[in-house]
Amino acid sequence: MTENKIHVLFVCLGNICRSPLAEAVFRNKIKKARLGAKITCFSAGTARWHIGENADHRTIETAAAHNIPMAHKVSQINAGDIDRFEYVLAMDEDNLSEILSILRGRKNGPKIFMMRDFDASRSGEAVPDPYYGEKEDFEAVYDLLDESCGNFLDFIIREHNLS
Ligand code: 4NP
Repeated sequence: MTENKIHVLFVCLGNICRSPLAEAVFRNKIKKARLGAKITCFSAGTARWHIGENADHRTIETAAAHNIPMAHKVSQINAGDIDRFEYVLAMDEDNLSEILSILRGRKNGPKIFMMRDFDASRSGEAVPDPYYGEKEDFEAVYDLLDESCGNFLDFIIREHNLS
């Protein structure tokens, strides 16, 4: 059954701030749309610095403030299993370059997007890295992930005729 699911991967640098929050927000939307049997999501970082750690405490607090469940352990993007994902979403241009270099030369890789390709108001811009920022910066990241993940879910529903 799992093999038939649509697999989505969110990618940032450290996998402690942006992509784990995107994963948690998106999973919550999948659950609310009762599409848990059809879509599943994960996140990974391009860097190896935080492998095995929890998400940043500010990420956890931001998710909790919005009643978004989060149980996250950091992992690094894996060239060996990236092909099991149908969709890979980069938070910024650096993440995108890393993903494209991993996939270079492969024929039938995942579809790659920038997360904010799905942010109707500011298409194409990066999700700003809040790591050196304040609580408000995490909240701003939450707002645009909420918007982008909602539109991305609508996009998948349309692409795969899920409703
Ligand atoms: P993330 O943010 O890529 O959104 O998880 C960062 C996390 C950690 C670091 C930089 C950005 N760091 O330098 O450790």
